Amino acid sequence: MPPDSLFPAALHWTILASSLIISLAALACVVVLLRRRAPAQPLAAPLLDPAPALREGEKNGRSPDEAFMQWSPEMLRQILANELPDTELIVVSNREPYVHEHGEDGIELKVPASGLVSALEPITRTCAGTWIAHGGGSADRETVDRNGHIMVPPDAPAYTLRRVWLSEEEYKGYYLGFANEGLWPLCHIAFTRPIFRAADWECYQAVNRKFAEAVVEEAKTKRPIVLVQDYHFALLPRLIRERLPEAIIITFWHIPWPNSEVFSVCPWREQILDGMLGSSILGFHIQLHCNNFVESVDRFLESRVDREGAAISYGGQTTLVHSYPISIEWPEAEERVQTAAEARRKVLERYGLPPGVKLAVGVERLDYTKGILDRFHALDEFFHQHSDWIGRLVFLQIAAPSRGTLPAYQALHQECLDLVAEINERYGRDGYQPIVLLPEHHDHTDLSELFRAADLCVVSSLHDGMNLVAKEFVAARDDEAGVLVLSAFAGASRELLEALIVNPFDPSGMGEAFFQALTMPPDEQAMRMRRLREVVRSNNVYRWAGSMLMDAARLRQREQFRDLGTSSAPWAATRPPEDNVVRLRA
Ligand code: F6P
Repeated sequence: MPPDSLFPAALHWTILASSLIISLAALACVVVLLRRRAPAQPLAAPLLDPAPALREGEKNGRSPDEAFMQWSPEMLRQILANELPDTELIVVSNREPYVHEHGEDGIELKVPASGLVSALEPITRTCAGTWIAHGGGSADRETVDRNGHIMVPPDAPAYTLRRVWLSEEEYKGYYLGFANEGLWPLCHIAFTRPIFRAADWECYQAVNRKFAEAVVEEAKTKRPIVLVQDYHFALLPRLIRERLPEAIIITFWHIPWPNSEVFSVCPWREQILDGMLGSSILGFHIQLHCNNFVESVDRFLESRVDREGAAISYGGQTTLVHSYPISIEWPEAEERVQTAAEARRKVLERYGLPPGVKLAVGVERLDYTKGILDRFHALDEFFHQHSDWIGRLVFLQIAAPSRGTLPAYQALHQECLDLVAEINERYGRDGYQPIVLLPEHHDHTDLSELFRAADLCVVSSLHDGMNLVAKEFVAARDDEAGVLVLSAFAGASRELLEALIVNPFDPSGMGEAFFQALTMPPDEQAMRMRRLREVVRSNNVYRWAGSMLMDAARLRQREQFRDLGTSSAPWAATRPPEDNVVRLRA
């Protein structure tokens, strides 16, 4: 055989071997995923008929926690090592995983309250990648080297954090302005009007260019995998593609994508879509958001949309549009140092609550998309309908300050204070206030204790990409007690079917769900919670990242086939879109 034909033959066998490994891994996943499939459920179904899902949990005598194969850091490492060898991983987000702030005792290290951070941190740690983010802490500049680098986590360095510096003007225009007064309300459709200013758009473009520069600076190879995070960086995929054409760019949009009619009000809609279509893979939490995105592209860009293959061909490049439901890292058993009863005793004591009360909790950033006012209205309805519960239920609401310089957030804060005062006035009495509002940040340990102390957890988002609080509550309840009341408009409602699913726009319906939760017998709570825990444990954050990386590996393989001239359909997607089971079989 002439030497120049030896190489393709060797490559061919490498590809075949590598396909076999992927197929075996996929087969193992299919077994797991087949077990967790559940049909879509109408809005009020769990309130009316909890039985089918509950019976399933009872069927086998084994603990469900043992019955499921786990996606783990090790699995993720294996996917990288076997399927994407020598590939460097670069994560880009606005929010950094560790912030250094000047405090009373010198420089303090803080972990921000962000679902995005809590999901990506374990992944970047596992993959030893580079994380590029805005350095927004008051002491951030003092803690990095001259290239803006610092190894993190500080107590066990595992990856590089590269901080990008923004001027006050850039921060205002890009983050507060275009991202949070424009795109955030546009995508959430929570009836807060988006504000689009040309000056903010200028800043948004400039900052996206600045981050593209940082990606190019950090890339050590021509073919990194770049994980672009969220609505702060809609233009970044295209800018990276222009500079690193062989990179695999996976963009994950952490918030909802609206229907094309709503999206059409954005003055720069074409540029945003064009920017995002620089991605190789574009991920949303749920299929509905993928569909909305595809519909927007179909309407506003000259493109070819393959709905069956979940792919968009535009400007000579193909972008796959898939759903990857984000999740959390399942807690280690050692993290639960106290029993639920101890947690409850401590929480009641800390907040001076009467010993016999039932406890409802809500935990979020103070944001108008979270439906905080709406749950208070539901509580009002609940007390109105069930007055015997006055004095027996306390609602403890953590509302971490967020984007507090923006008028919409300031107004919400005031409205919350006013409504809480009104309800406490109406139903409070000596030594009893029905709502305790804590407008402050709490760390992971405090929250886990609070979740374990609660009788019910309320997640009443008006619209939410996923909502990880719902999953964190479930993960904290190894005592299999407590009830989750969950908005139908949070992405999590597609997976957490045994929660009490509510419409946050209907205070009286949500009030009745509170009643159902508070009067639910312990064995029904346990059956529901067991099933919810199975789902969250098996659909953990490693599965979220692993699914995207497996798809990236398939893309790389296809590129190799294409280079060999053996690909019959360069247009074909990595997998059909229906659900993860089919996708992993592809
Ligand atoms: O996806 C929404 C998100 O970016 C999440 O990371 C997080 O829950 C929240 O918004 C954080 O917002 P910010 O970074 O503006 O505080």
